[in-house]
Amino acid sequence: MLPTIAWQGDDIVMVDQRKLPADEIYVTCKNVNDIAKAIKTMVIRGAPAIGVCAAMGLALGAARSKATGTKQFTTEFQKNCELLGATRPTAVNLFWAIERMKRAFSAGALAGESVQDLKHRLRTEADRIHDEDVASCRAIGVNGAALVPAEASILTHCNAGALATAGYGTALGVIRGAVEAGRKVRVLADETRPFLQGARLTAWELMKDGIDTTVITDNMAGAIMKAGDVDLVVVGADRIAANGDFANKIGTYTVAVLAKEHGIPFYVAAPSSTIDLATSTGDGIPIEERHAKEVTHVGSTQIAPEGAQVRNPSFDVTPHKYVTAIITERGVWKPPFIESLANAGTWDRDLVR
Ligand code: MRU
Repeated sequence: MLPTIAWQGDDIVMVDQRKLPADEIYVTCKNVNDIAKAIKTMVIRGAPAIGVCAAMGLALGAARSKATGTKQFTTEFQKNCELLGATRPTAVNLFWAIERMKRAFSAGALAGESVQDLKHRLRTEADRIHDEDVASCRAIGVNGAALVPAEASILTHCNAGALATAGYGTALGVIRGAVEAGRKVRVLADETRPFLQGARLTAWELMKDGIDTTVITDNMAGAIMKAGDVDLVVVGADRIAANGDFANKIGTYTVAVLAKEHGIPFYVAAPSSTIDLATSTGDGIPIEERHAKEVTHVGSTQIAPEGAQVRNPSFDVTPHKYVTAIITERGVWKPPFIESLANAGTWDRDLVR
């Protein structure tokens, strides 16, 4: 398994996902500003990974604090929560992790803990969030493997792998779980324009694991499904609304519609922290718009004419009617999702954000 993010002494290190697979470079974050920049610029990306990173970032920010009294320490902590909460809007795991850290902080503050105790408490909670994420992915793998036939050609979009989590992956967790359970699996990885998470990251990590992987461009998915070469689709999610609508990497919606047209099962794999019961439908999910350069350029090469108008929504919302089942660490949830998901999330209904 790849070390997506880890403590190195008092610093946090992560592999620079913008540079993979050409270069395996590690970025060291020494303070909370470094962490915010790493999330915003996508050194680290993927919904669960950015949640884990934010939690670790809050522990790092606390550890670096020179505050002597709890009043100043609390103000700094709140500012750090705001800073990290403003990095990326779509993946709910980021806000879930910040909320968990806030609750840990409040519990300590309420108990009258010292600055030192609070620092320790935040580090413990961040480590717990990290370790729980790996455990969730493994359980998603076991739950998802049961849905994979003995021999299967599986299409996935974007990267919902070890790199997008604290380890093992969600959609790729299902694939890894199926392989570990003895299924003969072949993966079709959509390249995932414009950031190319599929071609660069999914192919890289699956090939490292020796899993049969074929990269296709996004516009090939329909023809390959029509040819009968896809048995099931599994993708990750950035936010799942209470009715089962979900946001994931741009292009997921197209794949879901194509899967339905061809009678192919379409699964969403995500930890319960991705289920946002406070958002009733997909219409309420904020969609991040990223820089035009991601579209006009491939790497450093400009492919669109200078001055061309560009749209770059980073995510789309797939209506729940296209989803066969949602695989979480707690089980496999089937339609009607408004009923099955009601007790599946870890967000409180009344959570204040
Ligand atoms: O913009 P990204 O790379 O952070 O988007 C990632 C995705 O859309 C993933 O599919 C999603 O976060 C699930 S990762 C387990």
